[in-house]
Order: sequence, then C-alpha cells, then structure tokens
Amino acid sequence: MLLEGRHTRTIWVEEEGRSIGILDQTKLPFRIERLKLETAAEVAHAISSMQVRGAPLIGAAGAHGLALALAVDPSDAALASAYDLLVRSRPTAINLKWALDRVAARVRPLPPARRAEAALADAKAICDEDVAINEGIGRHGVALIAEIAAKKKPGERVNVLTHCNAGWLATVDRGTATSPIYAAQEQGQPIHVFVDETRPRNQGAYLTAFELGEQGVSHTLISDNSGGHLMQHGLIDLVIVGTDRVTARGDVANKIGTYLKALAAKDNDVPFYVALPSPTIDFTVDDGVREIPIEERAGEEVTHVSGVGPDGEVTKVRITPERTKAANHAFDVTPARLVTGLITERGIAPATPEGLRALFPDRAA
Ligand code: MRU
Repeated sequence: MLLEGRHTRTIWVEEEGRSIGILDQTKLPFRIERLKLETAAEVAHAISSMQVRGAPLIGAAGAHGLALALAVDPSDAALASAYDLLVRSRPTAINLKWALDRVAARVRPLPPARRAEAALADAKAICDEDVAINEGIGRHGVALIAEIAAKKKPGERVNVLTHCNAGWLATVDRGTATSPIYAAQEQGQPIHVFVDETRPRNQGAYLTAFELGEQGVSHTLISDNSGGHLMQHGLIDLVIVGTDRVTARGDVANKIGTYLKALAAKDNDVPFYVALPSPTIDFTVDDGVREIPIEERAGEEVTHVSGVGPDGEVTKVRITPERTKAANHAFDVTPARLVTGLITERGIAPATPEGLRALFPDRAA
C-alpha cells in the first residue's frame, strides 16, 4: 500500500538475502523508520518487541529469520536452535509456527549447502502468497460491502467498525480486514471506517488510522468503549476484524476486546465478520477459549502511553498512580457462535467445522 505516496511492502529482502528490511512499527505514526535485520536473533527481538507485528507479518518475518540463520550456519543444530528462538518470540498467532514449520520442512531434506538458498526462496514465496491471499480476501469481502450499499440510498456510505490493526501493516501488503475496504475504495463505493483505538498498544490509533490516512480512506478514531453505543444507534453496518488464530470449529483469537465487540454486534444484529488468510487456521485445536495460549505482556504497556508533545518529541507518560499494578492480556477468543462468517481467500465460510473443512479440505486433512 502507499506510504508517503509510494507503494511499499512491510518487509523486503536486502543485500541479496544477507539482511531484511522492515518498518519499525513501534515508531509509527510519529516517525517512519526502516530497520535492517541481519540475524535470527534480531528477527526474534523485532517480533517480541512488536517492531513487526500482526499475525501474517510475523509469519513472514519468522520465515526470513530462519533463512538468515541458515545463511550463516546451515547445520541441523543451527536450524533447530533458530526455529526454537523464533517460535517462542510470540505465542498466540499460529502463522509464525505455520511459516517456520513450512520452511523447516522444505530445507531439512536438503544437503546443508543448499539450505540457505531454498529457505530464502520459500520466505519470499510466503510473502508473495500473503499478498495474493489478501487480494482474494478483498474480492470476497467487497461483495458484502456492495450488498449493504445496495440497500442504502445512492451515495450513502457503508460504515465499517474495525478493531486493532489488521491492515497492510499487519501483513505483507493490503491487509486482511482492510482488504475489502481498500477494494471498495478502488471500486468507488462510499465507505467510512470507525477505528477502535485498541488499548493498550493503540494499534487502531497508531497504525490503522495512519494507514487509512495514507490511502485516503475516510475514517474516525473512536475510544474502545464506543462500539456498542454506535451499534445501538445504527451507525455501524458491519464489523470486520482480523485474527491471530481460528480453530477447526471457527473460534477466533484476536486482539483483546474483540470478544466484547462481537457480543455488542450480536445484541444489535450487526454482522460480525472475521477476515483471515488460510495459514491462520489451526486445525489442531477446537475449543479456542481452552486451547489457544493467550500472550500476557508487560503491565507497563497499560500504565504508560506514548505520544508526541507540543515540541514534536515522542514521550512516554505514566497514567496511573506510581504503585498501581496492571494486567495485560493481549488477546481474547470470540466463540464461533458470535461470528457471522469467515472471509477467506477461497470465499466466505460459516464459522463451523463443516464450513471450514468444505473450503479447506487440503488443510483440514
Ligand atoms: O499484538 P498485535 O499487534 O500483533 O496484534 C495484531 C492483531 O491482533 C491483528 O488483529 C491480527 O494479528 C490480525 S492481522 C491481519
């Protein structure tokens, strides 16, 4: 998507594969800074510190991390230790493990001398496939927006609510939840996005608002607690969120607060859709609430916020009494019964075991 008017992916290969480049997402929207990562350890740190974040992007970054490790040492031992380091960098999104398993399975049977090149090729393929998958999600999701628009007066906008950032910045390009929105914009359909700020890391305020602004999509930032009120007053036509893991029966792990939006949507008959690339489906788990590990991050992410002061400097400030302790559960699980449908690259599936198996028989097996 566009960054300062130029088409930019969120991850790229530099120095013929000896390093990769990323946008440092901890600096957005205040600074656009690019980072060079040269080792698997640097990639693992970028993932755990959220310099790269969003389920599909951390999968793509992890795959490149393995390729960087193998370029230095292609032995079985080096492969195993880079895999362990990377897979532990964040626990909830399954895309990371999916990508690491895929690259590891691709290179393990090869002689060591051929592993680095094969890993790099596969990491690049994962990135290209992510873009194609997201375009597919956009094609299917935009039909939902068109259906709602058809019931409105000509020119009246369709209002979409999003949570967290499931946009271009969370993927290699286009985004998952935002892909139908960008497709609607390209088709000239009037669309408006209500962006949840998404405390505590403010991915909505810092990232979604930033990227929608860069693409010229009409949007309004709202506090996290506003969604139910807007739905009660008929101001939201459709909710579309992303996800970090979808179980075989259609339970959805996503950024903390997603579950509350789904409950409010159910109570107000607002359709609640989840956009996902197929690598986000984890057919090995069923009951998301019991089986998906939920990342707990530092309490300081709740007690402190960063922003830019009148002098233009980025400052972190404490918003609590000095000794207040905070809990910081980063994700929650929305049970399948609250999900209207799953927008995938192969079509829209009901959030049921049958629905997912019918679209992805190859993955389910
Ligand atoms: O903690 P983050 O910023 O990595 O969480 C991101 C989300 O929860 C996204 O909504 C999710 O990864 C879907 S990304 C297409």
